[in-house]
Amino acid sequence: MIPAIYDRRSIRKFLEKTISKEDMTDILQSGLKAPSSKNRQPWKYIVMQGKAKEEMLNIFRQGIQREEHEDALLPQSRQHIAAAKHTVHIMEEAPVILFVVNSLGKSILEDLTPEEHISEICNIQSVSASIQNMLLAATEKGIGSLWICDIFFAYAELSQWLDSDGQLIAAIAFGYPDEFPEERPRKRIDDIVEWRC
Ligand SMILES: Cc1cc2nc3c(=O)[nH]c(=O)nc-3n(C[C@H](O)[C@H](O)[C@H](O)COP(=O)(O)O)c2cc1C
Repeated sequence: MIPAIYDRRSIRKFLEKTISKEDMTDILQSGLKAPSSKNRQPWKYIVMQGKAKEEMLNIFRQGIQREEHEDALLPQSRQHIAAAKHTVHIMEEAPVILFVVNSLGKSILEDLTPEEHISEICNIQSVSASIQNMLLAATEKGIGSLWICDIFFAYAELSQWLDSDGQLIAAIAFGYPDEFPEERPRKRIDDIVEWRC
């Protein structure tokens, strides 16, 4: 697993090659092996390919258009809309898009008590651990991935379209890589670690 940690890259160019159901199932199995707060396992995975993927991308595009022209939910993130459009293009090329849902999650518009807030943080950490497991399992199989949060530009539209309990956390694009990027810059260990004895 350590080589996978070091070799993993965000992949934004994919070959036109499908991922077998067996490989996709292995990746999902790795996701559900993640640790979770109180073993609540608050994850749900929705695998999108073919027509379902096309439908989802249309909804995503509608959300981006609303953010640009009508009542924006994320007015301070306008400068990132161009990048979100690029993400749509990447998703078009990827053979599989996985939506990851926090099945116990509350709406981002809801007021939470401190306890609810903590529970939400713990559930999101659990779902994120499961996402990272899947990215590493994919890497080990030579399958590329991209963790995507630009979907929040179409949060309302995609949530309604998904019609699933809980909250949308992220999308992941999977496919065989058509690029092999160098490692992206990382902060220096000495700048971010504080040793206290
Ligand atoms: C929570 C999260 C959300 C991300 N959302 C996007 C996204 O919407 N679009 C995109 O192109 N990359 C997205 N990324 C990928 C990051 O840009 C990438 O991980 C970072 O630049 C480091 O590159 P690396 O993954 O190759 O190490 C996301 C990554 C994380 C962890």
